[in-house]
Amino acid sequence: MTEQRIALVTGGNRGIGFEICRQLAKLGIRVILGSRDSSKGAVAAREIAGERLPVEMRELDVADEESIRECMRWIRREIGRLDILVNNAGIMVEEGEANPEHEVQIIRDTMQTNVYGPLFLSRLATPIMKSRRYGRIVNLSSGMGSLSEMGAGYIAYRMSKAALNVVTRVLAAETEGMGILINSVDPGWVKTGMGGRTASRSVEKGAETPVWLATLPDTGPTGGFFRDRKPIAW
Ligand SMILES: NC(=O)c1ccc[n+]([C@@H]2O[C@H](COP(=O)([O-])OP(=O)(O)OC[C@H]3O[C@@H](n4cnc5c(N)ncnc54)[C@H](OP(=O)(O)O)[C@@H]3O)[C@@H](O)[C@H]2O)c1
Repeated sequence: MTEQRIALVTGGNRGIGFEICRQLAKLGIRVILGSRDSSKGAVAAREIAGERLPVEMRELDVADEESIRECMRWIRREIGRLDILVNNAGIMVEEGEANPEHEVQIIRDTMQTNVYGPLFLSRLATPIMKSRRYGRIVNLSSGMGSLSEMGAGYIAYRMSKAALNVVTRVLAAETEGMGILINSVDPGWVKTGMGGRTASRSVEKGAETPVWLATLPDTGPTGGFFRDRKPIAW
């Protein structure tokens, strides 16, 4: 029998992250559903567990380094391995025209959640992955962070996703040949709290390519940016 893989998904309590948890668990992967609010996380995990799927909730605020440390300490101590990390948690707090008085603070806050958290988590996860020569890291990026598609507005969000793509490229280069595959994904425009009700895609569709990247075979790509399982321009 093959060993059960372990996945950590950040922001798993709702939206695309919740659906990624469900789809990974359906593949028989033991999913740790990270949620910054443990009561919301518990409700979400219960819903997935109700389908007789392997999921458990851990409190994890990716904007808080101590919370990240504590979650990774728990994984090392209680499980001793981590095969898959999905950096899904993200914020987009800007709306309307930029306000110069608040802009830089909004950028700092957005970078903390969308870039520094995923970077720190990945830094703590890769040594565990290296020790078993197996790892998949999926960074939920966005077409809004693509330099070749860059448009007006949402400067904090766009900067954060472009920077997250840098994290993907640098860590992929640093882990080449170690059995670790690290990729960015644009899930498309998805009906969630962030995407809104008029978005064109279901969460099921939005989770599809992240789950594909989380379960790539050893011969799969690393250091890429994907939408609908196809490479897209940075
Ligand atoms: N929806 C789209 O159209 C779209 C398009 C491109 C990319 N994306 C990306 O896909 C990812 C998921 O988006 P979504 O649409 O599912 O967003 P969402 O519905 O707004 O959900 C965001 C999730 O992130 C969590 N989160 C936010 N800050 C956190 C923190 N500091 N620590 C832990 N969790 C935190 C939220 O937790 P709470 O419930 O506690 O707030 C929630 O679970 C994001 O990275 C987003 O940028 C989305």
